[in-house]
Amino acid sequence: MTDLSNDIDRILVDEKSIDKTVREIAGMIDRDYSAMDGKLVLLGILKGSVVFMGELMKRLTVPVEIDFMKVSSYAGGTKTSGRVNIILDIQRADLSDSNILIVEDIVDSGRTLSYLTEYLKLKGAKSVKTCTLLDKPDRREVDFEPDYVGIKIPDEFVIGYGLDYDEKYRALPFVGILKRSVYEK
Ligand code: PRP
Repeated sequence: MTDLSNDIDRILVDEKSIDKTVREIAGMIDRDYSAMDGKLVLLGILKGSVVFMGELMKRLTVPVEIDFMKVSSYAGGTKTSGRVNIILDIQRADLSDSNILIVEDIVDSGRTLSYLTEYLKLKGAKSVKTCTLLDKPDRREVDFEPDYVGIKIPDEFVIGYGLDYDEKYRALPFVGILKRSVYEK
């Protein structure tokens, strides 16, 4: 097997910084949801959110249920297609008692979370908020701001901690910048 670390230009956010950020976000969520009516449902958007979701739920003290959706917004490669397709829908029929907190690894154009927020409200969720570990505000194409943001990052091609290029690098424990030579072949 090839050593993936050879493909990394540099580490952008190391493990320690990610851990600190996850704890801070968990503290804010605990504070905001502890007295709220209804249940808190963490809704992870597959696949990129799985690492962040797993770490975040461990740090929360408020009771949570979890669910997942899968959507596609990228046509493949590094460019966004500007479209959102639901591939796997939320697996619960009645959302009237659910405060949904959508969990993402990264917000780029903003189309995925903007679309999903409206979709889940229309499906009857009690409330819908959004949480992302990483945010690339320079890439925004729609007017959307997540409710909880971990780290704002520059417009670089990042991988690791759930984020992939061509399905690789998701398991790396840090967020790194991919060497241009990897995707400019
Ligand atoms: C990424 C990321 C978000 C979305 C953000 O997912 O996980 O879901 O793109 O982009 P946007 O703000 O421009 O909508 P991707 O489609 O790459 O799928 P993956 O999570 O399975 O890697």
